[in-house]
Order: sequence, then structure tokens, then C-alpha cells
Amino acid sequence: MTFRARHLLGIEHLEPEEIRAVLDLAETYVDLNRRTVKSGDALQGLTQINMFFEASTRTQASFELAGKRLGADVMNMSVAQSSVKKGETLIDTALTLNAMHPDLLVVRHPSSGAVNLLASKVNCAVLNAGDGRHEHPTQALLDALTIRRAKGRIQRLTVAICGDIAHSRVARSNLILLGKMENRVRLIAPPTLMPSGVADFGCELYDDMREGLKDADVVMMLRLQKERMDGGFIPSEREYYHRFGLDAEKLSFAKEDAIVMHPGPMNRGVEIDGDLADDINRSVIQEQVEMGVAVRMACMDLLARNLRAERGARAVGV
Ligand code: NCD
Repeated sequence: MTFRARHLLGIEHLEPEEIRAVLDLAETYVDLNRRTVKSGDALQGLTQINMFFEASTRTQASFELAGKRLGADVMNMSVAQSSVKKGETLIDTALTLNAMHPDLLVVRHPSSGAVNLLASKVNCAVLNAGDGRHEHPTQALLDALTIRRAKGRIQRLTVAICGDIAHSRVARSNLILLGKMENRVRLIAPPTLMPSGVADFGCELYDDMREGLKDADVVMMLRLQKERMDGGFIPSEREYYHRFGLDAEKLSFAKEDAIVMHPGPMNRGVEIDGDLADDINRSVIQEQVEMGVAVRMACMDLLARNLRAERGARAVGV
């Protein structure tokens, strides 16, 4: 077994061979998802609960579709209408759900570390769908699959991650994954949006797009995470776009065949030019969404295998 994890809490805990196992299995699900009949049975009989304490379109929809396509019973807990609004703590909510015997719990939460804490309290497999500024492992895995399919490999590439690095769990998970797979990572951001200590990850830091993009194979743009900002991090959106927004002119400094990525949701005209985002010759933004479903199917399939093996071993007293 090349995938040993009990939970998927972050890329930090994965070995390169486990990352490869997810990507390889996800390839088979890309094929399944392109068929008219998209049903698999890897999660047949299992219960998946999605708990999103923060807004989400892509991540929640793709986890739901992924579970349904593999035969799980999927329940989306509507946090807005739940007892969380009555003051129940995260742990109490988790213990309540745990008593209903779910097998997979998918959690997004605004606090870094909340998902790890929750995983220590429940009996099922927990998947981190984004916790604060900490990690967003399935996003980094779907980005890796998108890159591998576009470039034919996920090693020895120069990847530029640009924008609001300081508030981004997407940047953090990608940085860890790309480093583990031996890529060269460049971070490009204004000094106010570059987290301190990030150079320890072995990446190169730039505050000039044209310099940072030079000869990049992959250009990954990030949204300005205004909901995590508690002050003035940029002078104005107009000036930010002028210096750090990706347009055709700045992209011309990257390799001729460089791909453009964005995890969504996009702010057109703030971090990226709308026409460039829609340019199917450069942008793989829609492929990222497609890969998201396949990667989440693969992650839940692999975790379910481990869960079944663990419970089987316990049942026979091993
Ligand atoms: C990202 C997130 O939620 O961290 N979006 C996503 O999952 N596709 C990035 C963002 O919100 O900007």
C-alpha cells in the first residue's frame, strides 16, 4: 500500500509516493468522469458528511459530486442553520456527528489547526477542505494533477506563485507539495503580502512580477483574501493590478508555453486580466476544476481503503 494516511489533514504529512498514488488513481477517475454514466462503487455503503464553516463553491460541490459518484451517502451540513449558530463548539458539533457513525468527514474552517483538532476527536477519516491560512491539501493535489497533465511531469519545473501569499492556504500547500516533488518555487508578492520566514521553505522571493516570472513553466495566481485582512495591505486595487495583476505583457516574461492557473474564485481585473483567464491556449483554470472532482474521488477512495483495512483488522483482533 503506497498510501498510508488515516486522515488527509495537510500535504505536510504526505510522502512523495503517497502524492503519486493519489495522482495516479485520480487519472482513472478523470476517465470515469468523462463518461455518460459516472458511477463507481468505492464508497458504497459509506457515509460522508461535509461541514463547511466558510463559504465555498468549487470545493464543496466537488466533494459532494465525488462522494456521490463513488456511491457514498452524502450529507451536507448547513452550518448557517445548525446549532453552531446557537453557540455549540466545534468539538461538540463534531462529537454529535461522530455519534451518527460517518465514515468520511470533510471540513472547512476559518481557524488554522481546527481540522487537526477535530480529527483527534472522531473515529472516521477526516479530510481538510481548507483551514484558515494553514493547508488546503486537495487543492494542491488537484493543482499537481493539472500541472502533470499539461507539462507531462511534476518534477524539475519552475513554478511562480503570485499574489496574496500571506493569507493563502493554497500557496502554503502548493509550496510544500512542489518542494517535496523537487520543483523550483518562486513566490512573487508585495512585501506586505509575503509571510515572514517563508524563505525557510527553500523558495525564491520576488516583489517584481517581470523578474519573478522569467522562464517560469507554471504561473499560479492567487486571490486577494480580503476577508483575512485586518488593515491596509495594498494601496488600491488599481495599483495592485498594475504591479501584480497578470496580463499578457507580464506573462510574456514566462516561458512561451507557460500555463496560467488560479484556484478560484477569481477577481478579474484585480489579480488577473479577464481575457487571459479565458484564453484556452494559456489558462488551465477550468481543467483545475475538472481535476478537483477526480482528485477528491481518489483521496476519499484511498482513505476508505485504509479505514476498511483498519476496521477489518480490529474486527479479527489484530
Ligand atoms: C481557495 C480557498 O478557499 O482557499 N479556493 C478554493 O478552494 N478553490 C482560494 C480562495 O479562496 O481564494
